[in-house]
Amino acid sequence: MRRDVRILLVGEPGVGKTSLILSLVSEEFPEEVPAKAEEITIPADVTPEKVPTHIVDYSAQEQDEEALEEEIQRCHVVCVVYSVDEHDSITQITDKWLPLINKTLGPDHQIPVILVGNKCDIMDATSMESIIPIMNEFAEVETCVECSAKTLKNISELFYYAQKAVLHPTGPLYSAEDKE
Ligand code: GTP
Repeated sequence: MRRDVRILLVGEPGVGKTSLILSLVSEEFPEEVPAKAEEITIPADVTPEKVPTHIVDYSAQEQDEEALEEEIQRCHVVCVVYSVDEHDSITQITDKWLPLINKTLGPDHQIPVILVGNKCDIMDATSMESIIPIMNEFAEVETCVECSAKTLKNISELFYYAQKAVLHPTGPLYSAEDKE
């Protein structure tokens, strides 16, 4: 069994990646956040799966594409964060983020992806209509979750899903075409 879990958050600027990380750590919404959170390590005894967990932020302001690709190669699971109130951040999941992950890791990679819809405090409507087709098309997408760094809704669940995706993979990742 893996001795640690490294979770990377990526996504368009302003979707709330840093806020999500700091909300998890402090259990309250940070009104002001830096561009990029320092890498944090959650000790094994306070994680649900009892495995030390590193959480890594990404900021386009501070990192170039090469640094991003290095982080994608180092992590065990990627959370692609979007904002439920910003359609463009959803279209970029398939236009930019999933292709970049696949290009960086190769087509047969085993790194699970979790789609994270942040800012669900803003809208009553759900983003699931747009997200379910993406889950169906991309086998590497393990699960999705809507959450809010502001109200803390589903924040601990999100990091639990990420841990679980690494420690208890749901089986070989295959694409529908390969299945036969
Ligand atoms: P970059 O560093 O540019 O990549 O942005 P980021 O994805 O780290 O977003 P950041 O955490 O800096 O948040 C961007 C803005 O969204 C800030 O003004 C946050 O206060 C706000 N924000 C973050 N999470 C939430 C949320 O759950 N609900 C609401 N209403 N606002 C949020």
